[in-house]
Amino acid sequence: MDITIAQAPSNGCVVVPFLKTSKVVSNLQSFCEVYHLDISFVNKHFKAEAKQVFLQDSEGKVIFLLGIGNEANFGKIVKAFHSFSHKNKTHFGEAISVDLRYVEHGADPFSWEEAAVNGLVLGLYDIGAFKSDKQEISHIQAIELIGEGLSQTNSQIGVMVGNVQKAVFDLVNKPSNYKTPQWVTSYAQSISKEASIKFTAFDKKECLDLGLHALLAVGQGSPVDPSFVLLEYAPDTYTKTVGLVGKGVTFDTGGVSIKPSTNMHMMKSDMAGAAAVLGAIECVARAKLPIRIVAAVPLTENSVDANSIRPGDVISSYLGKTIEVIDTDAEGRLILADALAYLNRNFKPDYLVDLATLTGAVIQALGYHAAGVFSTNEQLLSGLAKAGVASGEKVWPLPLWSEYEEDLKSDVADLRNYSNKPVANAISAAKFLEVFTEAHPAWAHIDIAGVAFADGEFSSMRSATGYGVRLLFDWLTNLSESEG
Ligand code: BES
Ligand code: ZN
Ligand code: ZN
Repeated sequence: MDITIAQAPSNGCVVVPFLKTSKVVSNLQSFCEVYHLDISFVNKHFKAEAKQVFLQDSEGKVIFLLGIGNEANFGKIVKAFHSFSHKNKTHFGEAISVDLRYVEHGADPFSWEEAAVNGLVLGLYDIGAFKSDKQEISHIQAIELIGEGLSQTNSQIGVMVGNVQKAVFDLVNKPSNYKTPQWVTSYAQSISKEASIKFTAFDKKECLDLGLHALLAVGQGSPVDPSFVLLEYAPDTYTKTVGLVGKGVTFDTGGVSIKPSTNMHMMKSDMAGAAAVLGAIECVARAKLPIRIVAAVPLTENSVDANSIRPGDVISSYLGKTIEVIDTDAEGRLILADALAYLNRNFKPDYLVDLATLTGAVIQALGYHAAGVFSTNEQLLSGLAKAGVASGEKVWPLPLWSEYEEDLKSDVADLRNYSNKPVANAISAAKFLEVFTEAHPAWAHIDIAGVAFADGEFSSMRSATGYGVRLLFDWLTNLSESEG
């Protein structure tokens, strides 16, 4: 996407955002004067409600007025432009102008141009990857931004993050017969080539040599082998290392503790944590942030088979701790246990953060609007919460109190993977993971089961949201600025 900055729109298609604030009338007034439009007509029909689109014709140009709502928040601006672009992209032609002169953007702590461009790019996503009669849905190649003091760099970041998020949509929406652990491994390799990231992958035999017994146990019933991917981005100068871990279950049948078939197709999204982490490291590398990132992605299918682990089986793990597998559907915590322990021991990260579609229970607690976050580190919690509010990818804290350790006690092994009680399952899953972080002082677990794959205006069935890419990228940007 070609980005330019100008003082007046030169394209036949223009989008003009407006905030629904006390200044909306005077902003619309100045806009109507410049574009020679009838202010009373515009005022009557356009209220700048979030995502409202009002079409006008001005001297042969198509003008879209776009409502942002009453809050100048980065995430809300992205959402409004995403929605607008998704619905109207067939009218864009080869270039569109975005006129930012009628939103007061001087004092905002974020970049309007970045948010607008990010949203526009997201709306160009085509979910119909497997349709045989593919139609060209958009020809847009250039975005022109109109306004004073706009930043080319920020706009480029908006394009970059948007493109990475689209790739993450594609990963998560891809059917599991295509996205095997090997396929995701090749995908990780391809981003490493484009963005100067060091790539290492361990196949099944190498995982055995490393001692990733819990990952191998989950994968033992699958026709496709597990894989363990490590990506490392190290800039020339940095002070902090951040370890990221993403759950990469390419399909979760539940295993022998099989899931009900209604909605089981959604379990192709059980690698959304892995996808978010791959997206985040790619963004950090492309933005060349001064922070070192090591991403660990355990990949496997959780299949039903005569070779699958059975409920009651005892397995080993990277740390050597033995685990009684009460429920084979609680597989995410098993593969994360190995990945967290491996990353922690071998890279000693200053921060350790995992993202996982881990439990149905977090959906019971927080619904589809926020992920659950678990950490005993207040600074890390507040950093993630701040990035969550700014990006619209919200997190809300849940506890890690020691009372919940009771749920993990096994008679026959060091611990069990499920309490066998239908209460507090998001918390006991987090307590399970905590054991394998070996008391890391800055670890956070983010349970994204409710937010990674959602209903919405962009698809008729649930589809990928890209949750986590922006959250992590914003958090890491802030971290690299404060820790530089
Ligand atoms: N992948 C699921 C969690 C999930 C549920 C993700 C709904 C997205 C939407 C996970 O592996 C799982 O099955 N968890 C079980 C754990 C239980 C058996 C302890 C759950 O939450 O029901
Ligand atoms: Zn499961
Ligand atoms: Zn799962």
